[in-house]
Amino acid sequence: MDSILVTGNGPVNGEIPITGAKNACLTLMPATLLSDEPLTLTNAPRLSDIKTMTALLGSLGAEVQPLQGGKVLAMSSHNVESQRAEYDIVRKMRASILVLGPLLARFGYAEVSLPGGCAIGARPVDLHLKAFEAMGAELELKDGYVFARAPKGLRGGRVEFPFVSVGATENALMAATLAKGTTQLINAAREPEIVDLAQALRKMGAQIDGEGTDTITIQGVDRLGGATHQVVADRIEMGTYMLAPAIAGGSVELTNCSVDLIGAFIDKLAAAGVEVTPTENGVRVTRTADRVRAVDVITEPYPGFPTDLQAQFMAMMCTADGTSVLEEKIFENRFMHAPELLRMGAQIEVHGGTARVTGVPQLKGAPVMATDLRASVSLILAGLAAKGETLVNRVYHLDRGYEHVEEKLGAIGAKIERVTGS
Ligand code: UD1
Repeated sequence: MDSILVTGNGPVNGEIPITGAKNACLTLMPATLLSDEPLTLTNAPRLSDIKTMTALLGSLGAEVQPLQGGKVLAMSSHNVESQRAEYDIVRKMRASILVLGPLLARFGYAEVSLPGGCAIGARPVDLHLKAFEAMGAELELKDGYVFARAPKGLRGGRVEFPFVSVGATENALMAATLAKGTTQLINAAREPEIVDLAQALRKMGAQIDGEGTDTITIQGVDRLGGATHQVVADRIEMGTYMLAPAIAGGSVELTNCSVDLIGAFIDKLAAAGVEVTPTENGVRVTRTADRVRAVDVITEPYPGFPTDLQAQFMAMMCTADGTSVLEEKIFENRFMHAPELLRMGAQIEVHGGTARVTGVPQLKGAPVMATDLRASVSLILAGLAAKGETLVNRVYHLDRGYEHVEEKLGAIGAKIERVTGS
């Protein structure tokens, strides 16, 4: 298993290009199942999660051809012959559940194993299933699989989510494009990845209104066509690398992205005393003070502070001046990075969904264990500010969501290398 070795090396300076969003790509890829015409994605990230989705779509009979080294995905679901998503693939990635809506909508039938994914809480899929029921599907849970049927096709319905779910909104949105009549998604997620999906579906011929607000209205159509779509920039990759100069000092410009994707996070960086300036093609982040200030954070659905940046922000708070309180409201078990940060000399107390972090002037390098995708990168960021060597083990989590992390951080002067394991 590979590890990443980071040696604290002072300030970072330079430029990092941001790639297409993993989470957008993981919902845009299953959208190909809605049509028998080609869907081509540009600006796709090269990540193991994308390979997992490629394998899943392939197992159904869809073709996914990676072009330009994987930056372009040319997909066709002309020859889909299976509507069964097997446990062996689905268990690797929770986003696999996103094939359920498209399969059910186009073929009237789907069998999908219940998903696995990052170990950050129970993460059920009940909201996805309730949405399909509201559209007339009959569901059965048997042997760890969901069997979904709508022999006469889905029909439009009113889907009211009791709380915001990104995945359930995406699944329901895709399914509703081919349902008979009008569907309303109420209390829908507003993430930029939802907006990106709606834009791609519209290019395929779907009739959608209200994406980016909490009510999305979809007028079902008989069929969808092909399209080419550029995947939106990855706001989580962007936020992660914004924290590199904030933690280590220095000034870094992130390109191919936009500050509009990441509102509440920027406010918190500014409150911590970090300078954030929009540029023509992205954003520049500069730390001028010796230490950042402690800032409290509560994770919330978009446009609130993203749970996917909580671990990285905690890494920054570990060296802040003062005590901060980080409250995790989206996932019940998402502080697994805290004990690892403690190994590096951080002062953190976790009580349920709340972490109290008292900044120390200097972290110390240590061997640590990556427990999930965002936790892994938070340990790398902490390593940038630590004295000595930090060896982050189990980095396969990292490869699920960060393209070329060593090259990108290396390019801004970080001392970071991959240690290939057996
Ligand atoms: C997506 C993102 C993930 C991010 C999360 C929240 C992808 C591939 N993943 O995950 O990176 O951390 O949004 O921003 O886009 N829930 C239920 N029942 C359901 C569905 C969700 O109880 O049927 C709960 C979850 O356990 C969680 C909360 O709702 O506590 C929000 O989850 P959700 O927004 O659905 O996250 P994902 O779509 O899985």
